[in-house]
Amino acid sequence: MQTLNLIGAGRVGQTLGRLWQERGVFAIQNVLNHSAASAEVACRFIGAGNPVNALAQMRPADVWMLAVPDAQIESVAGALADHAGATNDHREPIVFHCSGAQSSALLAPLALLGWQTASAHCILSFASADAAIQQFPGTACALEGDASAIAALQTACSAIQARCFEVQSSNKLLYHAAAVFATNFLPVIQAVAEDAWLASGVPQDLLPGLRTSLLSNAVANITRLGPAGALTGPAARGDVTAIAKQAVAVTQWDAQAGAAYEVLSALALRMAKATTDTSATSASTN
Ligand SMILES: NC(=O)c1ccc[n+]([C@@H]2O[C@H](COP(=O)([O-])OP(=O)(O)OC[C@H]3O[C@@H](n4cnc5c(N)ncnc54)[C@H](OP(=O)(O)O)[C@@H]3O)[C@@H](O)[C@H]2O)c1
Repeated sequence: MQTLNLIGAGRVGQTLGRLWQERGVFAIQNVLNHSAASAEVACRFIGAGNPVNALAQMRPADVWMLAVPDAQIESVAGALADHAGATNDHREPIVFHCSGAQSSALLAPLALLGWQTASAHCILSFASADAAIQQFPGTACALEGDASAIAALQTACSAIQARCFEVQSSNKLLYHAAAVFATNFLPVIQAVAEDAWLASGVPQDLLPGLRTSLLSNAVANITRLGPAGALTGPAARGDVTAIAKQAVAVTQWDAQAGAAYEVLSALALRMAKATTDTSATSASTN
């Protein structure tokens, strides 16, 4: 079985480490975290691996996972390259990081030593490793980097029921921004809506009910009908007069929210028009 060293066994590292350990995909070897105590906890969670407290204590391995925070990847890769160069290890291991926004180019110092570099980003909110273990099956996983590393990671990730696909290095920022649109902006938009309701006189105690009903209806409609089919409101009706008046009202209340309202309304109008154009085309060809 191939050996795996882990640098950064937090939520993502522990989840993948444990799943690979349970499925017998990798033999988990050394685990290095920021603190030695945390590496010990991680090894207990994974159910395998030897915690170490310095790079110098890590043995050569077939595969290295750098699941450290994004801001740490470059410096950890540099330190690992110094360590690998100093130990004169002639194997050409695979090394990958788990960032969605960053490409495998961050691992350039290791690529220069002949290592096969990649990134593997699993599209799941790893709130805790305990929860992620349960939620992981079926998770989409974006692979990017050297072809040989991608092929090996595809096998390893598929073995724990990830659904792998490839992303071009040049598209990683756009790819990750899409995930921000898909999930991170939802709480922001909801918070603006709730503040605007309060400012317009909606009683505070009605907000939890409004949140639950509107959000769950929207999720059900988008899931069933797709985004275009689920669009309602003034943009869906092409009511540009109502949109312009509401934009003024929102801007008077909060200038940033007003700017967001205008941009989102323009995107909504574009979507509604595309839907109308598609319907007209299919009607004329039937
Ligand atoms: N969380 C998510 O939902 C999610 C989803 C997909 C991808 N990712 C990506 O996965 C990667 C890891 O994220 P995470 O959420 O798992 O982070 P995390 O829970 O904060 O864990 C990071 C781990 O890295 C260790 N660490 C930090 N600096 C280090 C260093 N210089 N050397 C060795 N270990 C170090 C930390 O050690 P200590 O425990 O000692 O502090 C911690 O165990 C990131 O690239 C992130 O973008 C995250």
